[in-house]
Amino acid sequence: MSNFLKTMTDSLSSVFHKDTVDSVLGIDIGSSSIKIVQLKKKGGKAVLETYGALSLGPYASTDIGTLTNLPTDILAKALVDVLKESNTTTTNGALAIPSIASLIFIITLPGNIKDSDLANIIPVEARKYVPVPIAEVTLDWWMLPNEAQNQDQSTDTMQNPVDISKTMNTEVLVVAIHNDTLSKYRELLTASNINSHFFEMEIFSAIRSSFNYELAPVVFIDFGASKTKVTIIEYGIVKSFHIINRGSYDITKNISTSLAISFKEAEDLKRSVGMSTNANQAVADVVKISIDYILAESYAIVLAYQKKYNKAISKVILMGGGSQTLGLMDKVSEVFSVEVMYADPFTKAEAPAFLEPILKQSGPEFAVALGLALRQLS
Ligand SMILES: Nc1ncnc2c1ncn2[C@@H]1O[C@H](COP(=O)(O)OP(=O)(O)OP(=O)(O)O)[C@@H](O)[C@H]1O
Ligand SMILES: [Mg+2]
Repeated sequence: MSNFLKTMTDSLSSVFHKDTVDSVLGIDIGSSSIKIVQLKKKGGKAVLETYGALSLGPYASTDIGTLTNLPTDILAKALVDVLKESNTTTTNGALAIPSIASLIFIITLPGNIKDSDLANIIPVEARKYVPVPIAEVTLDWWMLPNEAQNQDQSTDTMQNPVDISKTMNTEVLVVAIHNDTLSKYRELLTASNINSHFFEMEIFSAIRSSFNYELAPVVFIDFGASKTKVTIIEYGIVKSFHIINRGSYDITKNISTSLAISFKEAEDLKRSVGMSTNANQAVADVVKISIDYILAESYAIVLAYQKKYNKAISKVILMGGGSQTLGLMDKVSEVFSVEVMYADPFTKAEAPAFLEPILKQSGPEFAVALGLALRQLS
């Protein structure tokens, strides 16, 4: 099994055991901005050394908040710039693979399959889910323990003995990344002089930094610039993953079109007004329509999950820059009727007390970068 997928529990269990580790970087290259975090380990704890973000728009000669698809050399320049501006002191780091550059799906296999057999089975089964020749992608997988199913099984077995191997299904979480994507990221790391030993899917990094061992299903919603990612986690494991083809960039676009103003003005208004009708009714209305759409899609994903597994979700955790939209928290609470909170990843690292308010505020944006850095301290 290659190592770009690793579970939160693997990593967290060992974070606090080694004494000294050199400083490490977590690098999250989103469609609109780069986020980086540098951590080191001291006295068995993760310590925040520095962090920073950089909008990519200007590197494509466009505005802050626009979506970019930069060539590797320009992206490398942007990465080097943000590392320099943030006064980083190490070249050891790891890069997150964006969800849009990958496929994540669950394969259900009949019977009780052995982990060692998956290397033969998964590449064959994955063909049904991967739209390109299987030789062009790198696959990674992890067998999902199904506690609920096992419990039902043992009760059933005691009262009415059955052959478990015949009745139990095996669920396997599979990640596929195109080899060209991996080559592009390797080139980027070389061009920016970063030593890296692994890639990780962004959602796994975010789980590590922002999940606290809740047992009941939790929903992570990452409001990025280009897409909104909805993940349902149970026992610390990804049980469902969906991408909604709408992000915070689309909200700015809608404001710009509806009010016939520039993208830049629209971006500023989106950030200052959000859904606050007192500040600007016209802007708030546009933001609300976009957010309503994204939340309706997210809720439909959750409802389908609840129906399939007959379990209620217990909490929603918000992350990504778009989660800062004013009024969003209330709207999410209204739609989901459960506890809603912002990801607070910096609490997993020690930092000076005076930074606490700003770290809490910017935490949702840095969940991926911080989780990636944490993994390297294990
Ligand atoms: N205060 C705010 N209010 C509303 N939106 C905001 C605010 N701050 C940032 N954003 C939006 O958040 C988005 C950037 O978030 P983030 O950095 O998580 O995206 P990304 O990682 O680049 O995108 P993606 O994950 O989709 O590739 C931009 O669209 C930006 O306009
Ligand atoms: Mg992102």
